[in-house]
Amino acid sequence: METRVDEIAPRIYRLSTFLAGVGPSGFTFNQFLVEAEQPLLFHCGQRALFPAVSKAVARIMDLRRLRWIAFSHIEADECGALGEWLGAAPDATVTHGAIGCAIWLNDQAPRAPRALADGETLDLGGRRVRRLDTPHVPHCWDAGLLWEETTGTLFTSDLFTHVGDPAALTDGDIVGPAVDAEKRFGYTAVTPAAGKTIRRLAALEPRTLAVMHGSSFSGKAAPLLESLAGFYDGLLQQALPPEPG
Ligand SMILES: [Fe+2]
Ligand SMILES: [Fe+2]
Repeated sequence: METRVDEIAPRIYRLSTFLAGVGPSGFTFNQFLVEAEQPLLFHCGQRALFPAVSKAVARIMDLRRLRWIAFSHIEADECGALGEWLGAAPDATVTHGAIGCAIWLNDQAPRAPRALADGETLDLGGRRVRRLDTPHVPHCWDAGLLWEETTGTLFTSDLFTHVGDPAALTDGDIVGPAVDAEKRFGYTAVTPAAGKTIRRLAALEPRTLAVMHGSSFSGKAAPLLESLAGFYDGLLQQALPPEPG
């Protein structure tokens, strides 16, 4: 098992492990390291991935410098190796939204978490990340994303998931492959709030989308987010019974 490292925005590194046996054509599991005075890791990966991913981080910096660990929602690929990371980085603190701390981390985390309110920022020293609550988007009540203000990078978690082992970074279409994956797997909780939640992300006008499964995107990302929001609105409409009369 090998983890690739690519810098997808200034001092933002994608750590990518391709597992050929997952899904119809393999699947990438990507974590992101924000290199700053107080480095932050977004997604832990599963415990089985920790040896490869931690080795990849060690190629960029001393693991013990890690100060923050964050993720979108409670699931093995998002936070399975949390205990391993906290063990390797004694000064690191796990941070999550208020709901995620209440329903999981306050009880399960090896060290006390730092809860962030919706819209609250963490100044990492050279980079600033803002917590955005996105309940049930892509899935799970505790879901949230991070927005890195200085580079205009949105960490999208499972939004835009697509299969295979495509390029680390693209300026091409990732909406089509994401729609294909959604139709195949049905991983997003499509509620009346889904479209609105994703349009709030579009309003940030991100310049980079850091995608957990598949290629990250570089370029004007708002139209992609608008397009994805429209797709989920359409799925919800299809699921509703026809208007009476
Ligand atoms: Fe997920
Ligand atoms: Fe995921």
